[in-house]
Amino acid sequence: MRLDVVFGAPSLAAGELAGRVVAVIDVLRASTTIATALANGARSIVPLESSDEVVLRSKQFERREVKLAGERRMLPVPGFDLGNSPREYTREAVEGRTILFSTTNGTPALLATQGARDVIVASYVNLKASLAFLRAAARGGADVSIICAGRERHFALEDAACAGRLVRGLMRRRPDVVLNDAAQASVLLDRRYGERLDLLFADAVHGRALAEAGFAADLDACAAVDACSVVAVYYDRQITKLGPGWER
Ligand code: MLT
Repeated sequence: MRLDVVFGAPSLAAGELAGRVVAVIDVLRASTTIATALANGARSIVPLESSDEVVLRSKQFERREVKLAGERRMLPVPGFDLGNSPREYTREAVEGRTILFSTTNGTPALLATQGARDVIVASYVNLKASLAFLRAAARGGADVSIICAGRERHFALEDAACAGRLVRGLMRRRPDVVLNDAAQASVLLDRRYGERLDLLFADAVHGRALAEAGFAADLDACAAVDACSVVAVYYDRQITKLGPGWER
């Protein structure tokens, strides 16, 4: 089994994901927000390229069915219902709603996964559930790619460290796993920070930027390992959670 980590969707080669099982990670904050929304009962999340597209797509729904959501430069888009703070995605705000969602790095990374066999959205808050899904895929013989969304086309420490955690979980009792160099580097980062996600986020450029922009509390939300036991699966242009019996 091959297990590759990719730093940044723009570095994906054409056809690289064909037939693969893929996890997309944007720890700060899009993938954390997506897992939180699903755990709190959102019907689905539709990743879209731009805020204009969010507005356009909303016209296909009854207004009360949807939430217009996302960020630009970390801040909520004017006129939208929700920004990209996982703390906003409470049950009261999202239950039963379709979330039309556009963010700077997270949603473009998801939209770049065409050709993959299965795509999930992973973060620290749904780590265990995501790992269980990837393990089942690996047992079935699939090759796995983990895409780190990064920050404005650049490497992001927190995404790589989270990828390293998944890689380590997948390697357990699997001597046949072949890692690319980025996967090996991710493992080193996860070993370096371990459970100290506070230190990881304090070192990460985006962690510091969020704190400076007044979103320090979001860092705690993004560090809540396994707070959401959801497998967030991206299929047919929307993200939904797999039902509890998915492994059977
Ligand atoms: C993104 O998708 O670029 C991020 O989640 C940015 C953010 O922290 O809002």
